[in-house]
Amino acid sequence: MRTSAWPQVYPVGPPAPLVATAPRENQAEIVGSFAAPECYKQTMILAIETSCDDTCAAVVELDGRGALSNVVHTQTEHARYGGVVPEVASRAHLERLDGVVQKSLSDADVSLNEVSRVAVTTRPGLIGALLVGVAAAKGLAYARRLPLVPVNHLEGHVAAAYLTEPGLEPPFVALIASGGHTALYSVDRDRKLRLLGETLDDAAGEALDKGARMLGLGFPGGPAISKAASNGDRDRYDFPVGLKDKDNLDFSFSGLKTSLLYKLKAMDGERLREELPHLAAGYEAAVVEALSRKLLRAVDLHDAPAVVVAGGVAANTLLRRTIEERCARIGTGVVVPPPDLCTDNAAMIGAAAASAPAVPFPEYLSLNARSS
Ligand code: KG4
Ligand code: ZN
Repeated sequence: MRTSAWPQVYPVGPPAPLVATAPRENQAEIVGSFAAPECYKQTMILAIETSCDDTCAAVVELDGRGALSNVVHTQTEHARYGGVVPEVASRAHLERLDGVVQKSLSDADVSLNEVSRVAVTTRPGLIGALLVGVAAAKGLAYARRLPLVPVNHLEGHVAAAYLTEPGLEPPFVALIASGGHTALYSVDRDRKLRLLGETLDDAAGEALDKGARMLGLGFPGGPAISKAASNGDRDRYDFPVGLKDKDNLDFSFSGLKTSLLYKLKAMDGERLREELPHLAAGYEAAVVEALSRKLLRAVDLHDAPAVVVAGGVAANTLLRRTIEERCARIGTGVVVPPPDLCTDNAAMIGAAAASAPAVPFPEYLSLNARSS
C-alpha cells in the first residue's frame, strides 16, 4: 500500500537485502515456481499488533524504513460502553485477525513465501488482546519455520518515526502520548529508550477520553474534543496545566479533570451546550500545553538535536502545530508521523522489529505476552 498519504516513505532508504544475500534466518523458505528468480526477491517482515482495540497487520521492509501495507481494523464494539472492554477486545481480535493479516499481504502484493520474519507486540497492553496476536504470530512463524520478533508497543510507537523519516537516526527525545501511556524518553544511538519522566496519574489520551465523556462527547475522546473545540475560545476558561512549574519531566492530568468536573457542576444542560466549544478548546489546550512544555524542557536539559512525537495523541492537530512552531524557534528537528502511524498500527511494530533481536524457530513457542 504505497499510498499518497505518506509519500515520504518511498522510495527512500537503502534497499532491503536480497534473499540470496540475506543471512540464513532471513531467507524465505520457498519461492514458488512462477515467482521471480530468487536473487530478485526481497524478503519482508510481517507484523501483528493487537494490544488494545485495533486489530492490525502490516508488511514492512527488512530495514524497517518502509511499509508496503498497513491494515488497521478499529473495533467499533466499544463505543457504546464509552471505553475499551478487554473481553470484547480479545474476542473481536480473534474474529478479525485472520482477515486483517490476509489483507496486509494482498495490499502489499506479497506472499507468505516472501516473509522472512514475523513480528508481534508482546507487551504492554490488555493481556487477552495481546495473547490473540502472540498466538497467531507464533502459529504463522512456526508453520513456516521463521524467526519471531517480540516487540514492545512503546518502542513501536517511536519506530513509526523511522517510517516517516527514513533518514532519521538517534539520538533524539521522544514523547509518547497515547491512551495508556504518557512519557518522555531519550533515545540513544543504539535505539535504547531511557525514561526521563512520565505521568503520575492519567495518560494524556485517557484524560481526553474522560474529559470527552464528561462533556457528553463520543469515544475515542481525543478526536471528539478536537472537533467540538474547532470554533471554541481556548482562553475563555481557566484550566490548570499539570506540574507546569515543577522542576521535572513528569505529567499530571488529574487536576485538569477535576477542574472540568467543577465547571460542569455549575452549569445546566443549556449552558453546557452553549459553552461546549469553549470548554473543549480550553481542556484540549491544557493537555497540549502540558505535553509541549515538558517536551521542550527535555530538549533543553538533554541538548537534543531532534524530537519525535508518537502515540495516538500525536494525531492531534493543535499538539503537532504547537510542537512544530516551538521547535522551529530553537532549531530543533521534529518528526511527527502522519496520524495513521500515530494511532495503533502494525507498520510501527514491523519498523521496531527491524532492529530488535529475533527469537529463532522454534524457541518462541514458550514466549508469553505481558500486560505491563
Ligand atoms: O496510541 P493509541 O492509538 O492507543 C493506545 O496505545 O492507547 O492512542 C489512543 C488515544 C486515545 O486516548 C485517543 O483519544 C487519542 O489517542 N487520540 C487523539 C487523537 N486521535 C486519537 N487525541 C487527540 N487528538 C486526536 N486527533
Ligand atoms: Zn498505542
